[in-house]
Amino acid sequence: MKEEQLNELLYQALETELGGVQIYTTALRCVVNDDLKEEWEKYLEQTRNHVQIVRTVFEKLGLDTEAETPGRAVVRHVGESLVKSMEMALESGEPEASQLVAAEAIVMAETKDHLNWHLIGEAAKKAKGKVAEALKEAHEEVEDEEDEHLYHTTGWTRELWIETLGMKAVLPPPEEVKEVKTAIGAARAQHARGDML
Ligand SMILES: [Fe+2]
Repeated sequence: MKEEQLNELLYQALETELGGVQIYTTALRCVVNDDLKEEWEKYLEQTRNHVQIVRTVFEKLGLDTEAETPGRAVVRHVGESLVKSMEMALESGEPEASQLVAAEAIVMAETKDHLNWHLIGEAAKKAKGKVAEALKEAHEEVEDEEDEHLYHTTGWTRELWIETLGMKAVLPPPEEVKEVKTAIGAARAQHARGDML
């Protein structure tokens, strides 16, 4: 295990979660659907908790939460850009369009978040001693929530787009109804949506 690159992953993971808090806060200004609003409020609270969980990993590993790296700066830039995209949409004053922009922003942010945690889980299997322990504990705490954040919001984004196209949508999306927590489950849910119309 290359320690320096593992640290880089952790800096990026912290920055992703911090960006996530800003992204959900802004998305809640864009949301129109009440069920989705409830989901995103829950995800915002969970993301705030993820920030704390990553901070705890930093403490255990003796890392500086303020340390800057070029990769971390890129993650921050992407997060700020996603917030900006929602602000642009809000300025245009079309609520349904802003909601779609917010949903897409969350899918993009959660795709990175999901990758980070997948990699942290893989690193936990190979790491040793207190590093392995810290990573494993954090990973176990967030894993299911990260799956939900990505797969469920992906479903919402697709169905809300379908609705705006004037076609019949499955709302809440099959991913949420079926409580999907895996990529295979998400594929199955999407495949089964025809039966849920
Ligand atoms: Fe997260």
